[in-house]
Amino acid sequence: MNEHTTHQKIALITGANKGIGRATAEQLTALGMTVLIAARNPRHGEEAAAALRAAGGDAHAVTLDVTDPATVQAAANQVEERFGHLDVLINNAGITGSGQVSPEDAYDQVPSSVDVDMVRAVFETNVFGVIAVTNAMLPLLRRSPAPRIVNLSSHAASLTITSDPDGRFAGLPPVAAYAPSKAALNALTVQYANEFRKDGILINAAAPASAPRTSTTTAGTAPPRRAPRSWCAWPRSARTGRPAGSSARTARCPGSGQVSRPTTGPAQPGYPTSGNRR
Ligand SMILES: NC(=O)c1ccc[n+]([C@@H]2O[C@H](COP(=O)([O-])OP(=O)(O)OC[C@H]3O[C@@H](n4cnc5c(N)ncnc54)[C@H](OP(=O)(O)O)[C@@H]3O)[C@@H](O)[C@H]2O)c1
Repeated sequence: MNEHTTHQKIALITGANKGIGRATAEQLTALGMTVLIAARNPRHGEEAAAALRAAGGDAHAVTLDVTDPATVQAAANQVEERFGHLDVLINNAGITGSGQVSPEDAYDQVPSSVDVDMVRAVFETNVFGVIAVTNAMLPLLRRSPAPRIVNLSSHAASLTITSDPDGRFAGLPPVAAYAPSKAALNALTVQYANEFRKDGILINAAAPASAPRTSTTTAGTAPPRRAPRSWCAWPRSARTGRPAGSSARTARCPGSGQVSRPTTGPAQPGYPTSGNRR
């Protein structure tokens, strides 16, 4: 039996026990949505959900490791039994592959010497995990009157930015895992959008402004200093270099109705021009 008889908006965020995922959960509960805190560590998920409830939000923990198909399907079953549908899926869970070192020190990702297993692990979480979770949640999303999916990408996914010898990432070691995984995620997002366009399911990739990754010394539920900014990852106009359909600094993502910004032009407020963060 479903807990909600009227249409209560339900959002599920992967990796929501800390960092950007948790900050996003705070914002969505503040908007009155029911937020499912998907976390691979059940205790961390419960702690984050409890903190949001204590602040007046409607939040519930769901155990979900994006690399573990059994937990992905179990989470989908749980959402179905308790809520019957899903309105918003945020594929936020992600790893750099280099652990908690800063991008300046990620020498273990240099392409010519990288451990291929590390690259596999990053793609497993940042790309294949997104496919697994999206497809498992799709039947529930199809029951929403306005389904939305957001994939957390990165400015490091931009081939324009990363191939610029004077660009914001020019001072960082080249990486074989993280940036390529987010570029693949952008490509995947476009392919899903192409498939979903006729169904009215809106899917976008968003790159957050730089936020410190949750340090290993903080609890598994610690929030970040700031929430993400929306950033469009759609195909660009060959003429202007801006996302297709944009005519100014602010673009409307094709088919999505969500306002975001092109990945060219001056750095956004709060984004370090030194490029020391991905
Ligand atoms: N921070 C930035 O400046 C920045 C910039 C660009 C893009 N991003 C992207 O934004 C997203 C969130 O970043 P963040 O800075 O908030 O990272 P974070 O603080 O390191 O948090 C990552 C979250 O993902 C979870 N996670 C990792 N692997 C998982 C798996 N296999 N299954 C389920 N959950 C998993 C983590 O769970 P545990 O607590 O169990 O480890 C944690 O909850 C990522 O996709 C990241 O690539 C961040």
